[in-house]
Amino acid sequence: MAIEIIATGKAAPPRRVTNDDLAQGKWGGAVKIDTNDEWIRSHTGIGARHIADEGIACSDLALEAAKQALSLAAGWDGAGERDAAIAETALSLDFIILATATPDYYGCPASACVVQDKIGAKRAAAMDIIAGCTGFVYGLETAAGLLSVRADRKRALVIGSEVLTKVVDWNDRGTCILFGDGAGAVLVEKTDNPAGKRGLLRTILGADGSGEEFLAIRRGGTRNPWKAGETVDIPPHLEMDGRAVYNFAVKAVTETINNLIAEEGITIDDVAWIVPHQANARIVQAALKRLGIPEEKFFLNIEEYANTSAASIPIALDEMNRGGKLHRGDLILTVGFGGGLTYGGNLIVW
Ligand code: COA
Repeated sequence: MAIEIIATGKAAPPRRVTNDDLAQGKWGGAVKIDTNDEWIRSHTGIGARHIADEGIACSDLALEAAKQALSLAAGWDGAGERDAAIAETALSLDFIILATATPDYYGCPASACVVQDKIGAKRAAAMDIIAGCTGFVYGLETAAGLLSVRADRKRALVIGSEVLTKVVDWNDRGTCILFGDGAGAVLVEKTDNPAGKRGLLRTILGADGSGEEFLAIRRGGTRNPWKAGETVDIPPHLEMDGRAVYNFAVKAVTETINNLIAEEGITIDDVAWIVPHQANARIVQAALKRLGIPEEKFFLNIEEYANTSAASIPIALDEMNRGGKLHRGDLILTVGFGGGLTYGGNLIVW
């Protein structure tokens, strides 16, 4: 038995905002950011981000990414009814797992349930995962576990979807320039191929909750609930200690790659691609220098999308898949880190 990714999809809002657009106040937001293209590129590798319009929520982007993955799995070739192809494949799903830090609603319902309804996945259970930017890595392992424990379970959709631009503080230039909106999805199937030869080989998951305050939205949960008529002393925005997160991230990427390779008994030469969470190109560069891995092994698209949190790895996988970069049998290593703090990685035979 193997747990294989059989299709991918992605969604990015059409509004593309460059660094210059932010600095010149030409991005549709209320403020002109005191920044410039040179600073953002040299500190992060980001050139642009996609920003969702008013009224677009997490499940809207997730839905589009899901539809792309389902139509690819259905073999939809551009002719005939796309919706019919999607609807039929959706009925084959046992689970929808949606990783996000920016759900439609806090608490309930899960955004995965909204997607489940809209694609007509009537047989599927649905839930969200909160594991910060590592959410997709957690979600893939969760799907594998859920599919493995019962013979009659066959397929799961794992989605990462974020609308971070709605929760950043646009007056905090150290944070707001980092993030973008988007969604990525993979369709996972339990197949009869031998374990260890195809699909998900191994996952490492970890957390260090002592770093809870380094990346947090403190207002709105039960720790600091909204109160009628209050003076807002604790902001409703994403707050970040950039230095602390940076140091954690470099260590997490380095150790997760080393540990995955050591546990699997392989070398880095056996890995075709490393697909890191796209938070900051400098984090990747610092890690690869420590590991002595050539930069070409890392897939980076942060220049176009900025940090889309739990969506960044599945967006990258979809771009690689549709761009012809992934070949059957290639060994892919994903590595993520983020709020929680959390970290983890998957080894996947494509
Ligand atoms: N444009 C221009 N200048 C900026 C700026 C911006 N957008 N943001 C900060 N600066 C300025 C600061 O005000 C500071 O100026 P000063 O020296 O005059 O006080 C200077 O740049 C350096 O700021 P600092 O915060 O020390 O920069 P840094 O080198 O630590 O880089 C980050 C900041 C955020 C890029 C970096 O800490 C980082 O990437 N951290 C990880 C963040 C992350 O990946 N989070 C998500 C994880 S999932």
